[in-house]
Amino acid sequence: MNDRESFSSVLDPSKPNIARVYDHLLGGKDSFAADRALGDQIIASLPTVQVGVRAQRAVLGRVVRYLVAEAGIRQLIDIGSGLPTADNVHEVAHRLDPRIRVVYVDNDPVVLAHARALLSDSPATIVVDGDLRSPTGITGDPDVRRHLDWDQPIGLLLCGILHHILDSERPAELMAALCDALPSGSYVFIHHLVDSGDPAIADVQAALQQGLGRGQFRTWEQIRSLFAGLDLIEPGLVRVPDWRPDPDARAVTDDPVLRLACAGVARKP
Ligand SMILES: C[S@@+](CC[C@H](N)C(=O)[O-])C[C@H]1O[C@@H](n2cnc3c(N)ncnc32)[C@H](O)[C@@H]1O
Repeated sequence: MNDRESFSSVLDPSKPNIARVYDHLLGGKDSFAADRALGDQIIASLPTVQVGVRAQRAVLGRVVRYLVAEAGIRQLIDIGSGLPTADNVHEVAHRLDPRIRVVYVDNDPVVLAHARALLSDSPATIVVDGDLRSPTGITGDPDVRRHLDWDQPIGLLLCGILHHILDSERPAELMAALCDALPSGSYVFIHHLVDSGDPAIADVQAALQQGLGRGQFRTWEQIRSLFAGLDLIEPGLVRVPDWRPDPDARAVTDDPVLRLACAGVARKP
């Protein structure tokens, strides 16, 4: 059994699963009772958590638009892409330029099946079974190598996934391995849950760890250190709604739940 096979999650509707719990929080329909129970437990601890997940989707869209329209990025890898929802990465990118190459990576077979069905007629986008805990498995995957030009900058998207990597799985080393493989001039986006000292965090972290076996809020400093070797671009690592807000945005920006996550984009020199 190789790394990818050993990491692949198995479909078991009786156990909550990261992608389906998140889909439930986003108001989607792709969840089972166990996912909805854990999602509702999180909502009980953090009643406005949906403001947070909507802000997460919104910043992902802003980052993709920034990378394509302003930073000149022509190819994106989205690790932990999640169940398809509104404004998926390839849709946001292709509204700007349909030639942008997109690689979706996830380790959840349900996510992979949904993504493949959605993308059957989109040659610029591929879906790959991969695990962030095996970064060279992703960057060395033959389909990923073929689909992207490794002499040109790449936009790496890590939205809402690194907090599902435990400290014992050495997230900094995983980041270093991923970034090593990226060409110079590439960009890395991280959205991560923040340990702000809010008392509700302990409940949510306990619910995530009990239900999913993972889920880790980290301090601003710990998250900043995941960008080691990269140059954070303006406005740096900030609360999610503060990352290059759309001028005409009417999103909620003052809910306390928004202190529990941060976003940043950095460039590889
Ligand atoms: C909370 S969802 C985020 C979806 C999307 N990126 C977003 O921000 O809207 C996290 C996704 O990461 C995936 N995931 C979790 N751990 C992973 C790992 N080690 N390797 C690959 N994917 C992983 C889950 O299956 C899930 O689809």
